[in-house]
Amino acid sequence: MQILKTKDEARRWVRHQAAMDRTSGLVPTMGALHEGHYSLVRHSLQRCDSTIATIFVNPTQFAPHEDLSRYPRPLEEDLAGLAECGADAVFVPEEGTMYAPGHSTFIEPPAVARPLEGACREGHFRGVATVVLKLMHILPTTHAFFGQKDFQQAAVISAMVRDLDMDVEVEALPTVREPDGLALSSRNRYLSSEQRSRALGLSRALRDAADAVAAGEIESAAIEQRMHRVLTEAGVDAIEYAVIADRRTLERLPRIDRPAVALIAARVGTTRLIDNQLFDAT
Ligand code: PAF
Repeated sequence: MQILKTKDEARRWVRHQAAMDRTSGLVPTMGALHEGHYSLVRHSLQRCDSTIATIFVNPTQFAPHEDLSRYPRPLEEDLAGLAECGADAVFVPEEGTMYAPGHSTFIEPPAVARPLEGACREGHFRGVATVVLKLMHILPTTHAFFGQKDFQQAAVISAMVRDLDMDVEVEALPTVREPDGLALSSRNRYLSSEQRSRALGLSRALRDAADAVAAGEIESAAIEQRMHRVLTEAGVDAIEYAVIADRRTLERLPRIDRPAVALIAARVGTTRLIDNQLFDAT
């Protein structure tokens, strides 16, 4: 696996793939990789002729009070995992490579960025959209892969790619879960075992919502109330949102009469967790 550190090296790698008429897949990450990331790499390896991951903890998507400085950075472990997975290359830029002194241009994120995470984490999607656009410029691959666990992030990136006429096929792939339902996340490593048990409230609340919908419930208020109850019983420390939204716009939906998604953001201790569940209209 090639380890690329400069923009020139990264550009040369992708130009070489294009010159050989090879399709290429981009898997952007912030490191602290887990099976969710590796499943994206494996999917890209199946879908494309070559695959490049990126590891960059993007400072512009963290608010000042968020966990940028304590965000895990197990680089050697991540590189070994990617190599084992079969990634062809990884781009690991320094902060100064991505944001040279004087950098002052940012993306205005699309409308789908406004609710939910956009409302709770001011500036977050401005930072995400900017860094993903920069990565896609440095590495103009034919495909790019994101996890559905960050459902709104994938929607923001798809809308940006569509609105800015970018020539890359974006795919969002299913969330990978532990056997007990916990969605894999780099932030799970902050959880003590007692907190981890309480964190199971998120997947449990979503499963309960899915059961209710399967049994014929379509009123969002009833489903949201159930999700709040399960989260509270599990002992999460704060519920930021537990809502039903239109899958396309992410605006709140009074009833499930079109493709919808249940989304939860909750805190366990100081760790902020998100998860979601898709529903088809009945
Ligand atoms: O999902 C992530 O890890 C990050 O938000 C991303 C897409 C790599 C941008 O920094």
